[in-house]
Amino acid sequence: MEANMPKRKEPSKSLRIKVISMGNAEVGKSCIIKRYCEKRFVSKYLATIGIDYGVTKVQVRDREIKVNIFDMAGHPFFYEVRNEFYKDTQGVILVYDVGQKESFDALDGWLAEMKQELGPHGNMDSVVFVVCANKIDCAKHRCVDESEGRLWAESKGFLYFETSAQTGEGINEMFQAFYVSIVDLCENGGKRPTPNSSGFTKEQADTIRRIRNSKDSWDMLGVKPGASREEVNKAYRKLAVLLHPDKCVAPGSEDAFKAVVNARTALLKSIK
Ligand code: GTP
Ligand code: MG
Repeated sequence: MEANMPKRKEPSKSLRIKVISMGNAEVGKSCIIKRYCEKRFVSKYLATIGIDYGVTKVQVRDREIKVNIFDMAGHPFFYEVRNEFYKDTQGVILVYDVGQKESFDALDGWLAEMKQELGPHGNMDSVVFVVCANKIDCAKHRCVDESEGRLWAESKGFLYFETSAQTGEGINEMFQAFYVSIVDLCENGGKRPTPNSSGFTKEQADTIRRIRNSKDSWDMLGVKPGASREEVNKAYRKLAVLLHPDKCVAPGSEDAFKAVVNARTALLKSIK
């Protein structure tokens, strides 16, 4: 008799997670959270004092997730308050303002602060990071383009989303992907995909960054000013193999490759 009984579906265990927000002051951390949880936007800047705390429930597949959100203040003044809150975190929302280069350059510093607070036994690899390139509605003031942000995020194995807390663009998609990744990580024994699972190497990512920051065509090809045609061609071939769009899927590789082609043409013209 028992064998014919319909099997009762096991209720999936609920999960409790902790997520934190990180990034410079005024980049829009609180507004992103508010947009998602309260579906509204506040245009007046109300700096977070130390930490704001909230709880929300979300559904991922058949699991109910209870999310504890710790929204951190970005101002350096609040370091002593927020440093208590890095521990036991499953997910980090790392935010910068696409119109403010310093806030993008500061991301490495935020990771360093977290690493330091977690101490030698803390494990950043068991945390899901999502990078929000925020305020994309302010297109006129944008100075960090998508490929630059995406390259930084994906070369570290982080998720990347373009967001606007003002219009709501990208916000639900970002949170959905973020929570799914956290649940995957929890079900996977706490391991997130390794960096560069996105299909490009560190050398490719570093080369694209170097090309973006080069000061002239010599610098771009990595040769000394006054180098010979042979040296220029040799350097060009090496970069072409590394960055050719057929071979390289790193964000920004196509533009970097074009820039290298143009630099080589300009240099060959100038070399007698
Ligand atoms: P701290 O709490 O000081 O660390 O700042 P925060 O990162 O939490 O910034 P907050 O969310 O308070 O937003 C700062 C300012 O940016 C506010 O004036 C917001 O209205 C504005 N802002 C936030 N997100 C966006 C956005 O997507 N677009 C535009 N145009 N403005 C935004
Ligand atoms: Mg805030």
